[in-house]
Amino acid sequence: MNTSSASTGKLISFEGLDGAGKTTQIELLTRWLDKRGVAYLNTREPGGTPLGVELRHLLFERDELNITPLAEAFLFQADRAQHFSTLVLPALEAGTLVITDRCFDASIAYQGFARNVGPELVAKLSLIATQGHIPDLTILLDLNPEVVSRRIDPANDQSGLRAAPSRFDSESEVFHQRVRQGFRLIARAHPARIKVLEAARTAAEIHREIVGLVEPLL
Ligand code: TYD
Repeated sequence: MNTSSASTGKLISFEGLDGAGKTTQIELLTRWLDKRGVAYLNTREPGGTPLGVELRHLLFERDELNITPLAEAFLFQADRAQHFSTLVLPALEAGTLVITDRCFDASIAYQGFARNVGPELVAKLSLIATQGHIPDLTILLDLNPEVVSRRIDPANDQSGLRAAPSRFDSESEVFHQRVRQGFRLIARAHPARIKVLEAARTAAEIHREIVGLVEPLL
């Protein structure tokens, strides 16, 4: 099985509930990397490849398909398999830093825990999809779902953090609590890789902390 040390580039993933501020933090980090002249690939799951764009459409815009939790789990893995084999792994092999907005921990939290497909099964599928590759660093922006629902309600959102609704915006707060608990359990199991950052702070404060985590990897 390949491990992250087998290739020269580093892989950094960002995770958290929808609305936790990933987009803002990725933007701040890429600007910081630009200033330092560090080359990177900024990508995302799902949707980092042309196939992924199609899968994203199926997953997020076709409610009438009534996709089952297990089928949903496989669709995210199909996106990931394509993403890793055509984009992420070649970039890492070329020595490029890869930043991905979500990776397989999202599948474990959303499909494994919250959708009840089972975290162990989803973790196994994820490792097949990534050809055994795991991120070198995962930044988990942790936020109480109560705060998230206030942020993603356009009537209350002054942060500009959420532009469009996603597949899970209409899910109950209980669902989002399960996602959060799932993420926190995965983080507890992998403390060296997954860093939990309190997301209810200013973007600048969180960014400083992220820079402190990323700098040693460069
Ligand atoms: P997206 O619009 O990219 O939003 P966000 O900025 O919140 O990431 O939507 C991605 C959604 O897909 C998000 O709700 C999490 C979900 N997701 C899964 O359920 N499983 C997965 O494996 C991945 C990668 C994402």
